[in-house]
Amino acid sequence: MPETVKASHISTPIVSGQTPPRLALAQLPTPLQPLKRLSERLGGPRIWVKRDDLTGSVLSGNKVRKLEFNLAQAIAEGCDTIITCGGVQSNHCRATALLCAQLGLQCHLILRGSEPQIADGNLFLDRLAGARISYYPAAQYQRELDDILVHFQAHYQQQNNKAFIIPTGASDAIGVWGYVEACAELTNDFAQHGILPSHIICATGSGGTQAGLTAGVQRYGVDAQVWGVNVCDDEAWFLNKVTRDLVDWEQRYQTGIDLESLSVKVIDGYVGAGYAQAGPEIFNCISDIARSEGLILDPVYTGKAFYGMLDQLQQGRFGQTGDIVFIHTGGVFGVFPQRDQFDF
Ligand SMILES: Cc1ncc(COP(=O)(O)O)c(C=O)c1O
Repeated sequence: MPETVKASHISTPIVSGQTPPRLALAQLPTPLQPLKRLSERLGGPRIWVKRDDLTGSVLSGNKVRKLEFNLAQAIAEGCDTIITCGGVQSNHCRATALLCAQLGLQCHLILRGSEPQIADGNLFLDRLAGARISYYPAAQYQRELDDILVHFQAHYQQQNNKAFIIPTGASDAIGVWGYVEACAELTNDFAQHGILPSHIICATGSGGTQAGLTAGVQRYGVDAQVWGVNVCDDEAWFLNKVTRDLVDWEQRYQTGIDLESLSVKVIDGYVGAGYAQAGPEIFNCISDIARSEGLILDPVYTGKAFYGMLDQLQQGRFGQTGDIVFIHTGGVFGVFPQRDQFDF
């Protein structure tokens, strides 16, 4: 285990304002780019991509925005160890492992599944970053996750360490801030490009990105509908999860937002065989977008969501004109473990 650096020794600036403690960890603002060729080819509204895959290199993706808040809270509470959880190829766990290394915190990952023979993609980076890893069979993980997290927290306490638990995907009341504040950035992007998009679309895996965007458009006066394309579970599950995250967020921070007025919308139908299992149409879509736009999507999150968005666009859900924005939430390392599925 790496030597622990106490919170008081951490020099990364905490940016304070109206929002709770925040560490400046992501490369912001990320670009907002039009997908010109694709939009012309499809002939509907113009498609823009918010390049949150560029929040960093290895620290890329949506999780970094959330972790700016979760890790700041951990440090503010004097914690020296972070415990978090996810799938073996979790982007969130990879981002957390690397940020902990950057901040001098210990990191313990609780991963769902068995240890693969080869540590590929995100798992390879988790290992490289020196995270401690515990694997649990899927059924046990599903059943006992909360107990496992608390068990390890108590274990660290016995060792005179203070551990902070970040739940799946940092999708909780604290992590919601990441995409609430991303909406302030989006208002600048829109002003800069002179556009007023009417739809914002993201992949939804644990709900925090969608929850943040949904509250953020309201908080910053963006007149757009936020849609989450779920990549696992179903619409009912995410309507409940996103709403619960928003209620928790409002209860904790009392921002004064009118929760009743928030419009939580999920586009279901693109999960395929299950989480991290994509059909050939998704792999074809990823190849097509890589070749036509130089944009890399992944088969677990952004590939499914982008494919779903294009399918819905062709069915007219987003109208025939105007602008729509896809939030590219990262996930590039998820391509590598599924390299065999690409047909080229
Ligand atoms: C690359 C990527 N995109 C999207 C998501 C979904 O975001 P959220 O968990 O906030 O729903 C995740 C994580 O779950 C992710 O790793």
